[in-house]
Amino acid sequence: MRKLLITGGAGFIGSNFTRYMLEKYSDYQLVIFDKLTYAGNLDNLKDVEAQYGDRYAFVRGDIADPAAVDAVMQAHEVDTIVNFAAETHVDRSLMEPDAFIRTDVYGTYVLLEAANKYGVERYHQVSTDEVYGEIPAGHSSLETDPLHARSPYSASKAGGDLLCLAYYTSFDTPVTLTRGSNNIGPYQYPEKVVPLFVTNAIDDEPLPLYGDGRQMRDYQYVLDHCEGIDVVLHRGKVGEVYNLGTGVETENIVMAHAILDLLDKPYSLLRHVTDRPGHDRRYSLNVDKIRALGWESRHSFDEAIAQTVRWYVDNQWWWRKIKSGDYKEYYKKWYGQRLAGAGS
Ligand code: NAD
Ligand code: DAU
Repeated sequence: MRKLLITGGAGFIGSNFTRYMLEKYSDYQLVIFDKLTYAGNLDNLKDVEAQYGDRYAFVRGDIADPAAVDAVMQAHEVDTIVNFAAETHVDRSLMEPDAFIRTDVYGTYVLLEAANKYGVERYHQVSTDEVYGEIPAGHSSLETDPLHARSPYSASKAGGDLLCLAYYTSFDTPVTLTRGSNNIGPYQYPEKVVPLFVTNAIDDEPLPLYGDGRQMRDYQYVLDHCEGIDVVLHRGKVGEVYNLGTGVETENIVMAHAILDLLDKPYSLLRHVTDRPGHDRRYSLNVDKIRALGWESRHSFDEAIAQTVRWYVDNQWWWRKIKSGDYKEYYKKWYGQRLAGAGS
C-alpha cells in the first residue's frame, strides 16, 4: 500500500484523513479525487498542500464519471482506494435525492469497477451507522444486523455497502467497510448540527433543535474515526464490515447545552423547530469487532466537543466564507418556516 486514491478528500472527514495519513506514513503518496461540490473545499487542504506537496496531488473529478476515474487510476498508478466521496446530508437528501443516488450508489459502482480493472490491493468504503436505521433502546447494532435505511441518504449509502459486499462475493474484490457514527471536529460543513450550532451560537443566532431534542447520536471525534479507518486498512479482514464509533450515545439537547456552556451563551438561544421527516430517533453501535483489532476511541464526548468548539472559535476565517455564500439560500429554504414557527 503506497499510492492511495482518496475520493472525497476535500470534504470534512476525507481532508482530516489525508492530513492524518501523510503525517503518519512518510512513504505514502495520496491523490485526492474530488468533484468539489458545495461541501468540497480546498481550504480544508491548504496546509496539507503546503506541507506535503511532493507526496500529495489533487485532481478534480466525479466518481460517477468512469472516464475520469479511469484516467486518475492510470496516471497515478493507484494501489488502494479509500472512498469518502458522497452526498452526506440527510436533510438535503429529503429535498433533492437525485445526487445521492448518482454519487453514493452509481459512483461506488464505478469505483468498484476501477478497483477490479486495476487490481488494487484494497478498496475501502467509508459508510455510516445510518444504514441500520433507527435502533430501539437496549440494542446496539452489530455488523451482521439487517439494514433498515429510512432516508434517501441512508438508503443510497446502504446501496453502496451492498455493492461492495457483492463485488467481494462475486469477483473477490478486496473490500473492507467501516460504518461510522456522527463525526465532529475541524472543517465540518456548517449544515451538520455541531458546526451549525457552534457558529450560530458565536453569532447569537438561534439554534434550531429538531422536535424534542431527545434523539440520540454517538458523537465521535473525527481523528478517532480516521485512526479507525487506518486500523481497518492495515489490520482488517477483507470482505468484512467494522462498526466505528465510541459506543456512547448523547441526546441532542445535551450536546446543544454543552456547546452553549462552552461558549458561555444562554440556553434561550435554543429553538425547538418542526422535526426532520422520518428522523431516526436513536443510533447505537456495538464496536467490539473493531476494538478486537486494537482500536480504541481516544476522545470522550466532553473532550471532543470542547476541542471542536475551540476550533470554530479560532478559525472563523474558514466558516464565515461558507456561511456568506449559497449557504444562505439553503438555510432560508430549510429553516425559514421552521424558525418562524419555533418555540424556545
Ligand atoms: P462531506 O459532505 O464533508 O464531504 C464529501 C466530499 O465528497 C466533498 O468534498 C465533495 O465535494 C465530495 N463529493 C461529493 N460527490 C462527489 C462525486 N460525485 N465525486 C467526487 N467527489 C464527490 O462528507 P463527510 O462528512 O466528510 O463524509 C465523508 C464520508 O464519510 C461519506 O461517505 C459519509 O457518508 C461518511 N460518513 C460521514 C459521517 C459524518 O458524521 N460526517 C459519519 C459516518 C460516515
Ligand atoms: O450517523 C452518521 C451520519 O451522521 C453520517 O452518515 C452523515 O453523513 C452525517 O451527516 C450525520 O447524519 P445526522 O443526520 O445524524 O447528522 P446531522 O448533523 O444532520 O444531525 C445530527 C442530529 O442533530 C440529528 O438527530 C438531527 C439533529 N439536528 C440536525 C440539524 C441539522 C437538529 O436537531 N437540528 C439541525 O438543525
